Amino acid sequence: MTTDFTLTDLTPFMGAEVHGVDLGAAMPDATFGAIKRALAERSVLLFRNQDMTPESQIAFSARFGELEKHVLQNFCLDGHPEIFVVSNIIEDGKHIGAFGGSKEFHSDLAYIPDPSKGSVFRCLECPEGEGETEFVSMFAALDALPEEKRDWLSQQSAVFDYVWDYSRRQTQRPPLSEEQIRNTPPVTHPCVRSHPETGRKTLFVSPIWIRNFVGMSEEDSQPILKELTDFATGPDFAYRHSWRAGDVLVWDNRSTLHKACPFDEENSRRLMHRTTITGEQTIR
Ligand SMILES: [Fe+2]
Repeated sequence: MTTDFTLTDLTPFMGAEVHGVDLGAAMPDATFGAIKRALAERSVLLFRNQDMTPESQIAFSARFGELEKHVLQNFCLDGHPEIFVVSNIIEDGKHIGAFGGSKEFHSDLAYIPDPSKGSVFRCLECPEGEGETEFVSMFAALDALPEEKRDWLSQQSAVFDYVWDYSRRQTQRPPLSEEQIRNTPPVTHPCVRSHPETGRKTLFVSPIWIRNFVGMSEEDSQPILKELTDFATGPDFAYRHSWRAGDVLVWDNRSTLHKACPFDEENSRRLMHRTTITGEQTIR
């Protein structure tokens, strides 16, 4: 099929920059279908110099699936509960967005039964040379594992336990309420999952939230998990994105982990708009 855009790889194993698409304009179904396929294959898509509004970001994102309305409604854009504001900016003495995004690699909402499919992240302001987002390809990490480890992992499932992880952290955040604890029971996912659109196998583990492998104690699981995640989050599988205003990045949460890189939160301004696509069941 011919499409009206071209792709340039960001790394040999993950990511592509998409040229010739205006995300703020109407898009034919065939173009969107080709973008969706490119995302399933490359895991991260970059669109530069995009002139979007909250409405056009929501409209584009919603073509991938239903959108999350974030629990932290105070950080959503006024009148647009689908847009989660990520920012360190303070206006009238109040944070305008969620600040201090996770500095540890993770796959968004992996601790719920149907983890998020992916996100659309749009940069409105970012200090130069800091505040990057780093991704690792879990396709590439799985492919690079020794065969016997890959075979072993293909048989395993892991218990993701948000409440346990929250309680083990030295955090200044208040303790979880009874209701939050009730709403986030431990869940189980296969350690190797099939991408629902391509069938390609991908590693599905996370340095945070996993308490143990099913049928194995926490004490026995943690060293194996640490060795595995240290390997998977290494530089061989990574792409670090340096943001410019007007960048839109779409990532596939099923085949990547990501983390926020630090920046001078006291003196710099960073403002991002995120839409999050709701999830689906993990399949082995
Ligand atoms: Fe995240």
